[in-house]
Amino acid sequence: MDMIEDSDGVIFSVPCFQGHLPGILKNFTDHMAFMLHRPRYFTKKALVITTTGGVSARSTTKAMAAVLSGWGFNKCYQLPIMALSWNDYRPSAKDLKRTHDIAGKFYADISSGKLHVPGAGVLIPFNLFQAMTAAETDYPTEDNSFWPKYAGMRYAPGIPLTPGKKLLGWLIYQAGRRLLKSTTVTYRK
Ligand SMILES: Cc1cc2nc3c(=O)[nH]c(=O)nc-3n(C[C@H](O)[C@H](O)[C@H](O)COP(=O)(O)O)c2cc1C
Repeated sequence: MDMIEDSDGVIFSVPCFQGHLPGILKNFTDHMAFMLHRPRYFTKKALVITTTGGVSARSTTKAMAAVLSGWGFNKCYQLPIMALSWNDYRPSAKDLKRTHDIAGKFYADISSGKLHVPGAGVLIPFNLFQAMTAAETDYPTEDNSFWPKYAGMRYAPGIPLTPGKKLLGWLIYQAGRRLLKSTTVTYRK
């Protein structure tokens, strides 16, 4: 986490095992799953490179990119590669070109310092968790200590939002407040 914090961009190398993330990486993302409730890394950008023997490179890359969006990453570039190999992958001219192109985009984006408008998908947890932790509860969790610093914000400070996305965030927040009236989340063991 400290290394990610100190980085402008992070490259994740993800071989596809049985159509999914490899177990050791899944274990890592499971361990970090609390960040789906308490995202950070809002100014960071990522590149996910997946190799696969033959199938599921795209879905594996997408799965990792979805996790990183959940952790707050501002933008996630994706490079799925069909290696047609186990243990002896030699990049084709086409793969080298795709790699060169996306590496160039990734680098240019990071050095520009530009921050992107987040997708609608990340506005849901940001506003829902914020609303769900806004009231006193008999069952406080780390989420209750985390969200007050974002009170009144529809997404993290410094990240641009269009008026439509602001409205969407507000609507999600209101839905969360309503849900709070009828639902108690305990996490009690
Ligand atoms: C346990 C295991 C499961 C794998 N599962 C798949 C799979 O579901 N689909 C596939 O196309 N390739 C699969 N592969 C092949 C890997 O994706 C491939 O080895 C990896 O992308 C790296 O390429 P390389 O071995 O040439 O370095 C699997 C490999 C291993 C070791």
